[in-house]
Amino acid sequence: MTPVLTDATRSKIRDLMARYPQPRSALGPALEAVQQQLGYVPEEAMAEVAALFDIDPAEVRAFVGFYHMLHQEPLGTYHIEVCTNVPCLLRGAGQCAERLKQRLGVDFHQTTADGLFTLGEMECLGSCATAPMVAVTKRQANWMRYYEQLDTLERIDAMLDELRRLADLPAEQMPAPARAVPGGDAPRASGPYHHDHHPETNFLLARIDKPDSHTIESYEADGGYQTARRALTELTPTDVLETVKASGLRGRGGAGFPTGVKWGFLPKGVYPRYLVVNADESEPGTFKDRLIIEYDPHHLIEGIILAAYATEAEHAFIYIRGEYFFGAQRLEQAIAEARAKGYVGKGIFGTKKNLEIVVHRGAGAYICGEETALLTSLEGYRGHPRLKPPFPAVEGLYRKPTIVNNVETITQVVPIVKHGAQWYRQWGTEKSPGFALYCLSGNVKKPGVYELPYNTTLRQLIYDYAGGTIDDRPIKSIIPGGLSMPHLPADKLDTPMDFESIAAAGSLLGSCGIIVVCEGANIVELARRTLTFFRVESCGKCTPCREGSGWLEKILGRIEAGHGQISDLDLIERLTYPIERQSFCPFGPASVWGVRSLLKLFRAEFEEYIRQTNPNGKGPELPVRPIYRPDTGQVAPKVRV
Ligand code: FES
Repeated sequence: MTPVLTDATRSKIRDLMARYPQPRSALGPALEAVQQQLGYVPEEAMAEVAALFDIDPAEVRAFVGFYHMLHQEPLGTYHIEVCTNVPCLLRGAGQCAERLKQRLGVDFHQTTADGLFTLGEMECLGSCATAPMVAVTKRQANWMRYYEQLDTLERIDAMLDELRRLADLPAEQMPAPARAVPGGDAPRASGPYHHDHHPETNFLLARIDKPDSHTIESYEADGGYQTARRALTELTPTDVLETVKASGLRGRGGAGFPTGVKWGFLPKGVYPRYLVVNADESEPGTFKDRLIIEYDPHHLIEGIILAAYATEAEHAFIYIRGEYFFGAQRLEQAIAEARAKGYVGKGIFGTKKNLEIVVHRGAGAYICGEETALLTSLEGYRGHPRLKPPFPAVEGLYRKPTIVNNVETITQVVPIVKHGAQWYRQWGTEKSPGFALYCLSGNVKKPGVYELPYNTTLRQLIYDYAGGTIDDRPIKSIIPGGLSMPHLPADKLDTPMDFESIAAAGSLLGSCGIIVVCEGANIVELARRTLTFFRVESCGKCTPCREGSGWLEKILGRIEAGHGQISDLDLIERLTYPIERQSFCPFGPASVWGVRSLLKLFRAEFEEYIRQTNPNGKGPELPVRPIYRPDTGQVAPKVRV
């Protein structure tokens, strides 16, 4: 067989393999390198990659088939992917998608006749505050860019015109991959998206707006790396760990587990230990880590230095979602700057401490936000979750003790070590101390990221900071912790946004991704789109989640298409319980909480929708496969049981 990979690609793959303690970890980045050369991953390339990694080609094929960003078929020069997940849906993603289909003359998953554009549909891309939006990839130029605030037809058209103009440009002449708002009439078109803070808590976002905030010069001019220098030269690892433990800092990835306690689980005397930063920010409604990564990456790196010191890790990985292309570039640049100053590498800050940091781009899989799935993915396999225990602190990456912390969690460590645990505890509550980054999206006037004390209420966030709802519409429901969490009714607006208060109100704080749904939203569409997300993103490892999410989506899709029965509502509710209780990992329960809460809060609306769209009660009593294909819009014939 004639080789399809060039020597340059092979050499690049070998370099990638050398970056990891175990070369297999480079499988994802290697396949991305293949796509940069060929635009996709054909069978012949899989065989060659398998030979380089000394694994079976079937393993490569299984890997490619799992991740959304790896493609087995050729695509157009540009791959335009429209986010249609709930926060974008609430802000006009449907119209954006329709305009693109109309202008390009293609449907989703089709390529224009000139081969220039392939149109796709995408799950949340971490831009909910600037919805509607699309991600555009020009793989063979190694270029990806977010086009945001596509809320007018003119902006969508301007984007397409720009892409056409850039089509023949070589990689080095393509514009910077920073976010873009086409048409040039929007403020801060390529800077950070909207953010604000409480008057007393401006520690994580304080530098975001400064010119060149991402550079080491800017960071050090603001006192950056002084805390790490002091810790490594004046404090012991135990001092740092105990300070973080005493602060009560809780993980910001979703579970809210106390960070210092987690660090304390590392078994004594077992090395090497690894630190893994979870930058796979994929929970719909969550986009805070992106702001830090893109506009203050040195703050994150200083946090990594402190965390690695406290946990005695000498190797850190930043697992960043593949779609954060710009963020990954910023991190690579920042690490190179820090290395040049002696803050990363051997003997950092003139001490005996060594620290390597590797940026690992994911290949598109929501499940990799779950820490054990992330570790499996980082080892070069499909992102399947693992059974716990053993927990990663005991047996994690490469079966060694590993701490996995979210980006914001690690970033919070810097002001905590700088100012002390008691300083941090002056805000928030006893059990949820400090402040957090809240992501606000949906039907509000000023969606964005807000740095606020934990006891701030939902009402304060939405009305005092974000200016209220669009057109001052009444609120219908609020999702307080990302799409996985149950909806709260509008009468819970005075709930403080801490872990305990939100749980007492009937939901979970999760990743602090607050999605506001106003009157006028179609509850059936909302429920169906929520389930579409979970069906698409289920890793497929366990039956209740894989099959259950698909069945729920089909039933909801059938209702949406006008063939629902009132009895379907009981069927949906009944199905949610085995999915919640018998799934392998937390993804299963998370996939049903949203729809079950919608049924509880708005059952009358579901019933009214069914009565109006299917007044004669025609259609199946039980789902019959296939019922509904959201990607094609086809509905199966009605079958009476
Ligand atoms: Fe579209 Fe988050 S970017 S839902």
